[in-house]
Amino acid sequence: MALLQVVAVAGAAGCCVPALDERQRGRRRRGLRSPRAVASDAAAKVGEDDGKVRLGGSSVAVTKLGIGAWSWGDTTYWNDSEWDDRRLNEAKAAFDVSIDNGMTFFDTAEVYGTALMGAVNSESLLGGFIKERQQKEQIDVAVATKFAALPWRFGRGSVLSALKKSLDRLGLSSVELYQLHWPGLWGNEGYLDGLADAYEQGLVKAVGVSNYNEKRLRDANARLKKRGVPLAANQVNYSLIYRTPEENGVKAACDELGITLIAYSPIAQGVLSGKYTPENPPTGPRANTYTPEFLTKLQPLMNRIKEIGGSYGKNPTQVALNWLTCQGNVVPIPGAKNASQAQEFAGALGWRLTGDEVEELRSLAREIKGIKMPIEES
Ligand SMILES: *[C@@H]1O[C@H](CO)[C@@H](O)[C@H](O)[C@H]1NC(C)=O
Ligand SMILES: *[C@@H]1O[C@H](CO)[C@@H](O)[C@H](O)[C@H]1NC(C)=O
Ligand SMILES: *[C@@H]1O[C@H](CO)[C@@H](O)[C@H](O)[C@H]1NC(C)=O
Repeated sequence: MALLQVVAVAGAAGCCVPALDERQRGRRRRGLRSPRAVASDAAAKVGEDDGKVRLGGSSVAVTKLGIGAWSWGDTTYWNDSEWDDRRLNEAKAAFDVSIDNGMTFFDTAEVYGTALMGAVNSESLLGGFIKERQQKEQIDVAVATKFAALPWRFGRGSVLSALKKSLDRLGLSSVELYQLHWPGLWGNEGYLDGLADAYEQGLVKAVGVSNYNEKRLRDANARLKKRGVPLAANQVNYSLIYRTPEENGVKAACDELGITLIAYSPIAQGVLSGKYTPENPPTGPRANTYTPEFLTKLQPLMNRIKEIGGSYGKNPTQVALNWLTCQGNVVPIPGAKNASQAQEFAGALGWRLTGDEVEELRSLAREIKGIKMPIEES
């Protein structure tokens, strides 16, 4: 995690916004529709058909809510004790309950579940779950995984060789989405070329990035476009209490360019579930971010979330996830550790907050000021 964060911070540096007016004029000249119109059309389609969302300009459609598989095989969450059969069975139950409830989009990464002794690779686990289930019945799953842009990996070839190893672990001949996990310290052009190669070879059906700021996102989009490959997604930290993508231009750029924003930490490490209060703050590393002072400032938002949720028969977690799906062009991927969590996440689908409720929650969230989050993107 430490390395990931260092690299993510390095990648977030610097931003120069290209002249917006120039692009808009160009679009008008070419008779193209405004990106806002495109984004709202996309949002309007959700719920009309099978409730799937297309990933950017790709051919891949995924469920409105995906399941993050980062905790599968991981040992840090479990107090560094070994990944064992009990945990394996819990993760497998989370997978099965997700499928049973029509949530068929899973997000993993080559680095999940590999950092520490006793850990098991998340891709291998996910691949095993898919295989086992497919022996019983035909299932329709969409798998997203990620390339680790480690400083010693260079060039387009490194992307293809890492991808092939991921596919081996997953036991699949292709994945629906392959993402650069974070911007590299250098050599990003090579990585993007590698993504395009993988796409052309049919090893991936869509390509994406993760933790990219606006400038990097625009550059990546332009480079892939030259190869005729749509940049389908940017996966970033986004939730009601971490609305940095709204503030740093990333969300607006995604909407403008037709790139789906995949939201990780959508319930902010459980904080939006309402399980912590000023009297009962989290312990461990989370205690530094979610202090009693922060939790006090959070109360008005949490109270309103509970009230609104009550009127739909939903709990705060389900409201926080639904709020994200209401942003249009956003797919949250909460991490499901067990069956009951997956069941809970499924309850975030099949209904919709009103536009007024969405905006009311956003403005209550804006009131929570003066809180230092560990990573502030530019
Ligand atoms: C990890 O250990 C802490 C302190 O001993 C305990 O409060 C917590 O519940 C443990 N977490 C898990 C997932 O076992
Ligand atoms: C995502 O945001 C949360 C705040 O909700 C923060 O605690 C967490 O560290 C962030 N995660 C990453 C990987 O940036
Ligand atoms: C499932 O995981 C959540 C989050 O860690 C935990 O609070 C809950 O007790 C677990 N449920 C079961 C049935 O193990």
